[in-house]
Amino acid sequence: MSANASSPKGLGLSAKARRTGQPPISYLMAVVVANPKLINLAAGFVDPLTLPVEPVRQITQNLLADTGRGRAALQYDTTQGLAGLRRAAVEHLEKLDGKSAAELGISERDLVITTGSQQALYLIGDVLIDPGDIVITANPCYFVFTGTLASLGAKVLTVPMDEQGMDVEAVDRLLARLAEQGLLEKVKLIYTTSYYQNPTGLTLSLPRRSRLLEIAKTFSGKRRIIVLEDAAYRELRYDGPALPSIKSFDPQNQYTVLTQTFSKPFAPGLKTGYTAMPADLLEAVMHQKGNHDFGSSNLAQHIALEAMLSGAYERQARLLCDSYRRKRDAMLEALQRHMPSSAGIGWTRPAGGLYVWVTWPEAIDTSRGGRLFESCIDRGVIYVPGDYCFQPDEKGRVPKNHMRLSFGQVSAEQIEPGVQRLAQAAASCLATSNQQPATSL
Ligand SMILES: Cc1ncc(COP(=O)(O)O)c(C=O)c1O
Repeated sequence: MSANASSPKGLGLSAKARRTGQPPISYLMAVVVANPKLINLAAGFVDPLTLPVEPVRQITQNLLADTGRGRAALQYDTTQGLAGLRRAAVEHLEKLDGKSAAELGISERDLVITTGSQQALYLIGDVLIDPGDIVITANPCYFVFTGTLASLGAKVLTVPMDEQGMDVEAVDRLLARLAEQGLLEKVKLIYTTSYYQNPTGLTLSLPRRSRLLEIAKTFSGKRRIIVLEDAAYRELRYDGPALPSIKSFDPQNQYTVLTQTFSKPFAPGLKTGYTAMPADLLEAVMHQKGNHDFGSSNLAQHIALEAMLSGAYERQARLLCDSYRRKRDAMLEALQRHMPSSAGIGWTRPAGGLYVWVTWPEAIDTSRGGRLFESCIDRGVIYVPGDYCFQPDEKGRVPKNHMRLSFGQVSAEQIEPGVQRLAQAAASCLATSNQQPATSL
């Protein structure tokens, strides 16, 4: 054995691998696994008790009882995905948007089925972004996608959010600035989670939808700036209007991508999503997907298709909305009842999705290294620190006085005690910070 066998040589990791850090969620999951009694207000998982075990059992049995269909489902299908499922997805989008496929400017040829919508987000980033290219997002933003963007070497520029979602006039001003600096050609994507955003629960208002598209068109020069609309939570709507997608304002199917998933309104275990996009982008995405996996799980696609055709999908989505609406209300009532009455504390009231976003006075540090996080773990509750969801400002700073709470996985009975523990931990942090001299704040 050679002398240096005990000290292995380093790996020649690619620049992309070196840019890719550990996802923040891995740490939170490790904490949850190590503390199984924690009330988990962090997980973006869906409710385990409402998963559609019975309908999927029935669908799978029927599918495999028919040898021909069983064989088809257990064989590879195409890279683009099962044609029937793409057709069913188009019909579903027609219903959601209240427009015909022709009016939407799409057909099943414009869709790709992916391994969750996350794969679509990744592939779109992969085919559009070279290191240094610009993506515009809201701040805060879905942190798995900003992790993807960091890995691809994108420069993420942000605009703030308010009650109407992403501030699209700020997008307009940002693009005007980039135009002055001669950087417009670097701008590839504007990313928005347009329904019940992860992490804030806020929705892009109706007037801002068409306006965002108009802005993307206005600033598109030789190359188009694509609006990437992530509608993962679209169908988890508890009140408020059913808003049309941004894609529905783009009948030429030129400037918008619309990605949806079976994960949130049906079952994440199918890990199946569908995305409509412009033909030239689709071609590039398909080439890349060919290299990734040359097609997502065909069995999962057959199950998803049968769920749609049999009505099981719609029944499940309705059931989920009733169940999550109750849990959303329980969380909002618990916050109202237990949160310390101190200036500067507020939270969002989402009309759908899985998240409530809480803002604290700046004296409260919600980050992983902060006292509140530790104190919450000690008291048996966990949340997602808000700083995970922000891009740093020019000085590298991120706000540390927010948190994401989820009513997804936690049981209805645990919401109240979870929020109570959190509020007690925060009240004690606030009391200590009030005792400190003002200069230390
Ligand atoms: C905003 C958003 N987009 C996309 C996804 C990806 O979901 P999936 O890949 O399971 O479809 C998630 C998952 O939590 C999400 O929160």
